[in-house]
Amino acid sequence: MTPWPPVLPAKLHPIVRAFLDTPGAVAETLATFGSPVHLVFPQVYAENLARLRSPLRRSLPGHRICYAHKVNQSRAFVRTAERAGVAIDVASPHELSSASSAGFDRARIEVTGPKGEAFLRDLVARRVTINVDNLWELGRIAELADEHAEIPVLLRVSGFDPGQVSRFGVPLAYVEQAFDLLSAQRGRIDFRGFAFHLDSGDLGERVRAIDACLRLIERAYDRGLAPSVLDIGGGFRQVFTADAERFDAYVLALRESLLGRGEPMSWGSNTFGYHVAGGAVHGTPVFHKYANTVSADRMLTDLLGAPLERHGGRTVAQVVGDNLLEMWLEPGKALVDHAGVTLATVEFVKEISDGSVLVHVDLSRDAVTPADQEVMVDPILPPRAGAGPVGVYFAGRLCLERDLITNHKVWLPARPEPGDPVVFPNTAAYHMDLSAATASMHPVLPKLAVTQASDGFRVVRDADYEPDFPGESSWPRDRAPSPVRSIEGF
Ligand SMILES: Cc1ncc(COP(=O)(O)O)c(C=O)c1O
Repeated sequence: MTPWPPVLPAKLHPIVRAFLDTPGAVAETLATFGSPVHLVFPQVYAENLARLRSPLRRSLPGHRICYAHKVNQSRAFVRTAERAGVAIDVASPHELSSASSAGFDRARIEVTGPKGEAFLRDLVARRVTINVDNLWELGRIAELADEHAEIPVLLRVSGFDPGQVSRFGVPLAYVEQAFDLLSAQRGRIDFRGFAFHLDSGDLGERVRAIDACLRLIERAYDRGLAPSVLDIGGGFRQVFTADAERFDAYVLALRESLLGRGEPMSWGSNTFGYHVAGGAVHGTPVFHKYANTVSADRMLTDLLGAPLERHGGRTVAQVVGDNLLEMWLEPGKALVDHAGVTLATVEFVKEISDGSVLVHVDLSRDAVTPADQEVMVDPILPPRAGAGPVGVYFAGRLCLERDLITNHKVWLPARPEPGDPVVFPNTAAYHMDLSAATASMHPVLPKLAVTQASDGFRVVRDADYEPDFPGESSWPRDRAPSPVRSIEGF
């Protein structure tokens, strides 16, 4: 029997769970720093990093992790990555400056994404590794570089599967032109290797991309070049749900509701990417990634162990290792999975003409939702005695019909009250920063770093976080830390 009500329980890291369970922790944080606010947990980030590193350390002597900064603007994460000794992938002048000021030197910085003239000039002057997106960039680097500058360059390639188009990278058919230029400009450009990035979680797609890059490496050697890097990008998945069965049951109930059976479960005319025809629901929903249960390290282990047909069934790790290649990764969301939550406050609850209940909170959709997605994990509210589960939609603070934080119905154990704190779980990956705007002159949400120590939790402004914290003695003497709260025992 399908359990009632349909719920979407979030998977929480034990540190985050312990923080939320500490009596008074959330209330005290909101009272001290205001509402709404983002919290990041650098210790969870460090643990994710260690977990992703372990299959690499087991099977691949040459590897490099470049943290994809774009996933979150948090300085605490960047400082944690720096301290852990990994590299960083930056995609704008601002991310580059954030990485430099957090301690990354040029040898540990890789610049990805499309770049304009001014940025390229700066990168050539700094001699950081440029992951080239297109032939124009490659040509400009050759023109801007001094004769013996040897600017380190990776070539991003795309279009591995027929019919799969990408706006990024050099299509395979154009790589020969890149070889011409790289061969002619050897003094100015140090060609380090090939790169790709796939959003898909599909193992086969990644293996095909790796195989295509291995072919390109062979062709490059034929042209007298000596690439040694194979950069497989990011795209390693997050696990949002704590209960895959309940997730499936929710989706089933939602599909039924789209067919007019049972209680309505969607705001307005939202169908979440499904289409309804002939008495059935078709298509893939926009929220399919929230159903994933395969962890990033599992994905990576499977990839490293995948056999390559063209190489006699030897695994990806064996072929990369035997050919003395270095594998680079650019994980973003996998490193910040479960390492952030967003706290908000209920302003009021209202019922509208069709009987729907709206819970208005003091933030807007863009603070907790990546642009085009529907986040399928339930917000968490404090337990409250009530008449039983109530189905609600969460509404944002903007004066726009579309500022609904959940377009799908969320069942809460009881109707919330004004002033109740609300926790939006697992918001660190793109949810916090990707589309955040200062609409209606509301400021972008502040960010705090939360660490667990033996004597409780400490909360500090993200900009002030240092990896040695806690240990207040580690603060530079000439700099007073802004509010640092020890929140055990509130
Ligand atoms: C080139 C590149 N590398 C890495 C990433 C990080 O991807 P993810 O957060 O999926 O790991 C992105 C994300 O857009 C990207 O464009």
